[in-house]
Amino acid sequence: MNKPTAAITAVGGYVPETKLTNFDLEKMVETNDEWIRSRTGIEERRILKEPGKASSDMAVPAIQEILRKKNMDPKEIDCIICATVTPDMTFPATAVIIADKIGATNAWGFDLSAACSGFLFALSTGAMYIESGRFKNIIVVGVDKMSAIIDYTDRATCIIFGDGAGAVLLQPSTDENGIKDSILKSDGSGRDFLHIKAGGSLKPATIETVMAKEHYAFQEGQTVFKFAVKGMADVSAELLERNNLTGDDIDWLVPHQANLRIIDATANRMGLAKEKVMINIQKYGNTTAATLPLCLWDWESKLKKGDNIVLAAFGGGFTWGATLVKWAY
Ligand code: UT7
Repeated sequence: MNKPTAAITAVGGYVPETKLTNFDLEKMVETNDEWIRSRTGIEERRILKEPGKASSDMAVPAIQEILRKKNMDPKEIDCIICATVTPDMTFPATAVIIADKIGATNAWGFDLSAACSGFLFALSTGAMYIESGRFKNIIVVGVDKMSAIIDYTDRATCIIFGDGAGAVLLQPSTDENGIKDSILKSDGSGRDFLHIKAGGSLKPATIETVMAKEHYAFQEGQTVFKFAVKGMADVSAELLERNNLTGDDIDWLVPHQANLRIIDATANRMGLAKEKVMINIQKYGNTTAATLPLCLWDWESKLKKGDNIVLAAFGGGFTWGATLVKWAY
């Protein structure tokens, strides 16, 4: 029996209404619109600011959009994989909270932590469950409420990140379209450059760690930038080569939205024209695990069955990778 191929058959997304613009940030830290736009490409980001709202509250409407589009009962979902670094709580997993909130009473689920590569890793994981033949309907959701872990007095991080959620439905493909290949990598020696110092088992939260702001994300931007430019471009080029493809064969690049300069470097390395690159960093900033599905969400109406799409990401860990998808609808 032939192994089924996993295909993305629907996309949903959600971003909060509240916008945090570069001009707002000018009033909060020593920065300016011109610097942020020229160094990152970001103009504004969305912030989930209602008290009592968490990552799951963004994932839920993203998944409900899929259920509406597919006229699907939540009870048909077999599994929810939630990629996030900002879970509602350290445990239980946000995936099971999402399942409860949407009424996916037949689903099992778990969270996957791979920072900005989380969605890519989760997509590959979900695809393997479909390919095994054991499951038919898998939701992969990338969600982050980065505003929960950002210090809005630290200009090195607060200008970059935003909140959002994007989800896809994975089902067995009815033709040759679907998820074709992935190259996924990690190097934990990169942990020094992008992390949260306290609140884990290494350094549990205390009054002192909170006073020292160690519960916020720390990033050594320049170092991460150098690794990201090389990592994302190299792995994308390797994926093309392994599949005997060139930039001409690719219809769309879906890059992690961390910095416009990293995106440009990857597109150049792949020999791709700018029109083939999905870029929405200007309006959402870096939403960590949500960037890739939010691109698919924004571009869904432009995608055609059979399009060759490369998704590429780089993030904390370090983690990085690229996935080749033949669009299925
Ligand atoms: O998504 C997960 C992975 N993360 C990434 O891929 C992010 C990678 N890193 C980056 O995108 C960039 O490193 C940043 C956007 C974070 C920073 O840009 P940069 O071009 O690397 O800036 P820099 O840290 O080298 O700083 C350049 C200058 C410095 O001033 P001097 O020393 O040249 O006078 C900084 O003090 O810009 C200054 N600066 C700022 N100025 C205004 C740093 N941050 C700011 C700011 N506003 N927010």
